[in-house]
Formats: sequence, C-alpha cells, structure tokens
Amino acid sequence: MATAGGGGGGGVLVATLWWICLMWGWAHVAPQTHQCPSHHDLAPCACTVKKNGLDLLCEFTDQQHITHAMTALKGSSEVIFYLKLRHNSLPKLQDFVFLGLDIRHLTIHNSSLAVVEESSLSSLGKGLTQLDLSQNGLISVPSAAFRNLHHLLILNLNHNRITAIHNKAFEGLDTLEILTLYENKIMTIESDAFKGLDNRKLKRLNLGGNELQSVPTSALSSFDMLKKLEIQENLISEISEGDFQGLQSLDSLILGHNQLMEVPARAFSHLNLLNSLELDGNQITHIHSEAFRGLEENLQYLRLGDNNIHCVPSDALRRLHRLRHLDLRSNNISVVPEDAFTGFGDTITFLNLQKNDIRTIPSLAFENLNSLETLNLQNNKLKHIPEEVMEPIVDTLRNIDIMDNPLECDCTLRWYREWLKNLRDKDDDVMTKKRTLCTMTSEHREYKLQELPLERMNCVGKNLEQTSSSNAAEPRGFCTGTVTTALATVAVAAVSSSYCL
Ligand SMILES: *[C@@H]1O[C@H](CO)[C@@H](O)[C@H](O)[C@H]1NC(C)=O
Ligand SMILES: *[C@@H]1O[C@H](CO)[C@@H](O)[C@H](O)[C@H]1NC(C)=O
Repeated sequence: MATAGGGGGGGVLVATLWWICLMWGWAHVAPQTHQCPSHHDLAPCACTVKKNGLDLLCEFTDQQHITHAMTALKGSSEVIFYLKLRHNSLPKLQDFVFLGLDIRHLTIHNSSLAVVEESSLSSLGKGLTQLDLSQNGLISVPSAAFRNLHHLLILNLNHNRITAIHNKAFEGLDTLEILTLYENKIMTIESDAFKGLDNRKLKRLNLGGNELQSVPTSALSSFDMLKKLEIQENLISEISEGDFQGLQSLDSLILGHNQLMEVPARAFSHLNLLNSLELDGNQITHIHSEAFRGLEENLQYLRLGDNNIHCVPSDALRRLHRLRHLDLRSNNISVVPEDAFTGFGDTITFLNLQKNDIRTIPSLAFENLNSLETLNLQNNKLKHIPEEVMEPIVDTLRNIDIMDNPLECDCTLRWYREWLKNLRDKDDDVMTKKRTLCTMTSEHREYKLQELPLERMNCVGKNLEQTSSSNAAEPRGFCTGTVTTALATVAVAAVSSSYCL
C-alpha cells in the first residue's frame, strides 16, 4: 500500500513538473520565435531570424522594390532588429516609408541617398537605437527627419558630402552617445551646432576627414562628459590654449594628419584626464616646453610620428609622470642627448625612434628607461650601438629592432647576439626571423648579424670590461672622435638644454 501510494504520488509529481516545464517553455520561448514573411513577398530582400528579431538585407535594388518589401513586413508585426539597405539606388527616403515597423538598427549605406524627408524616420522614434546613413550623397544633416529619434544611441553619417553643421542640427537626439561624421566636407561648425544633444550622454565624436581649419571650440566646449574626440585629417594649422576648454573628461584626442607646425604652451591644459594624444602626421617642428602642461597625471600614450621634429622634446615630456608609449618615428632627429629621457623615462615601455636620422647614441642616453620593453631604432644612420648604451635596458627589453642601419660588424654589437640568443631560448620566432645585417668594412660585404662568428666580430681576447672601457673613450654624443669626453659632455649638455626650445 505504502509503496503503491508512493508510486502514485511520484506519478503526479512527474506529470506536474512536465506540465510546468511545458508551460514555462511555451511562455518563455514562444514569444521569441520570430518568423520571416514569405520569400516571394520580400524579394529581392533576404530575411533571417535572429534571437532578438528579424535581420533583413536588401542590396543592389531600388526604391520601388524596397517599398514593396516594407509593405510585406507591415503585416507581420515582428521586431526588425536589423534593416540593412546597401548598394541600392535610393536617392530619396520618402515620408512614412517605415510607418508601422519596429526597427532597432537601420543602415542605408552606399545607396545615393540625398534626401531624407521630414516624416520618413519619425515613426521609428520609440525603437531605433542605431542609424547608419554612411556613404551617401547627403549635403547637409537631415535635422528635421532626426527630431523624433529619442532612443538613438549611435548616428553614423560618415562618407557623405556635408559641408556645414548648422545650429541645432541634431536637436532631439537627446540620448545620443556616439556621433560620427568622418570623411565629409565640413568647413563650418556653427557654435550651437550640437545644441540639443545631451552633454551628459555624448561619449564619442568623430569629425575626422573634413576641412576644418580650426578646432570648433565654441561648439564643443559644453561636452564635459565626452571621452573621445577625433578631429584628424582636417586642415587645422594652429591650436592654442583654450581650444579644448570644457572637455574635462576627455580620454583620447586624435589630432593626427592636420597641418600643425607647432605645439604651443598649455595647448591641452584643460584636458586633465587625457590618456592618449595623437599628433602624428602634422608638420610639427617645435614643441613648447609647456606644451603638455595639464597632462601630468594621466597621459600614457603620445604619438608624435611623421612630423619634422629634430630632437627628442625632453623638456616638454619631462612632466609626464605616467608616459608609457612614446612614438617619435619618421622625424628628423639626428641627436639623442645624454639626458634625453631623464626625469620621465622610467615609466616608458614603448619607444619608437625608427626612420629618423640618428647617427650616435651617447652611453647614458637610455640609462633610466627602466621599464622599456619595446625599442625601435630601425632605419637610422647608426654605425655602432655599443654595449654600454644598451646595458641598462637589455634585461627588460622584449623587442628591439635595429634593422636598416649602416651597422659595422664589430664587437660592440655583441650584446645584440647575446640578447637574441636569450630570446631564442624563449622561443620567440618573430625576432629570430628578423634579418639584421652588418657590414664588415674590411671586406666591403654584409653579414647576417646573428650568424656571424664572434671571432669575426673582432671580439677575440676582449672581455666585457675591455669592451666597455674602449667604448667609454669613444665620443659620447654626436661630436667627432677628436673631442675629449669632458668636452663631449659639455657639448651634449648644451644640446640638451637649448636644442629643443
Ligand atoms: C556602391 O553601390 C554600387 C551599386 O549601386 C556598387 O556598384 C558599388 O560597388 C558600391 N560601392 C562600394 C564601395 O561598395
Ligand atoms: C632635417 O634637419 C636638418 C638639420 O639637422 C635639415 O638640414 C634638414 O632640412 C631637415 N630635413 C627636413 C626634411 O626638414
């Protein structure tokens, strides 16, 4: 009896659990199963079902077919998670074309779009979070059409032909976090251009690839929560103190590929939280010793490559206590003074000096680069890189490039072979594949440095101490071999204190 009763109770329990599972499954899975309209109704658009709704793609077609497909969708009342219209002929987005549709991400890309009628998007205000109108023929911001998009987070207007941003161009987009206008023809940004965006929401603004001749300070200064400002590839020839006022939360500023010739005092003094600054690809010859004031506590990444800087701007850099990544590639640096990195070098992990004109490096130049992991000296004019130059950094270095220098095969390069050998033990084949060549002057021919026997490097009978002392007698800086060490030091000191001002 007891057994039978127990069995009966178990049966009821199982049945109940089964029922609960069934109901639970129905309640939780059924609403998420979406369905595409019939292929025939949608053609030539393609539809797939995604977890959060339909994913629709219409390519290489025209307005009439797209309108037809939208009509087919209106019957289905499904969430359209992605609607992607690409490579079409869609010069005009007509009023009410999406009426009755719940679209979350809308892309109209490379479709000759030039006119966005005022009521074409207004019905999407409650659901649309991303709008991508890139690579079209818009000549101005279709402000009236945007006004209702109160849930939009990302707006992409890249690769259009917009020439000016007029006042309140984005009014109504009060949830926008990312606005990108890369590669337009913007020359003018009126001072209230961004009024109507919520300055607490906007995190990223891309104005790169335009025709701006100056930083649009008055339009930008209210964005006190902006994290990233891209304004590269414009025609900005001058920046000055105050240009970035108000942008107190900025983390990353990209000013590369403009026409700056100098970085004046206090140019970034309002950007106390800035972590990354890109100034590469300008024509900078002069960096004021106060240029980076205000960036002391947070700047870690600094790119100054592809400019016309003729020395390491040590005086300006010295205040940057947190600097980790310093890129000075493709400049016109011929001299690295002995104190080039004193006072700020010990936090640097990455130093790029490739494609400069460096002929000699004095013995103590790298002395306080205590954290250096990557050093690039490729493509300079170095004939010798003596052991005592490298000695302070050789233990922390994981990556060094000395290729494309007129290196002479002599014993001063012994450190490199040792370093490489240790690395090879660590099985790093990227480094061992590098072909670092040196020239045996007596033979007028080149050898692969890592394959050259030590005895050919003139090292026979020389131990480390002898190598060092013979180097110590060599000129310490850029001066010729005839000066004494003391004189050379004076000359280097003179270079370090005045050369970069
Ligand atoms: C843009 O779309 C046209 C068709 O309208 C296509 O031929 C062209 O290759 C597309 N361009 C790009 C860059 O995708
Ligand atoms: C590089 O600097 C040297 C002087 O150190 C100067 O003669 C030369 O014109 C500079 N090169 C460029 C491209 O400005």
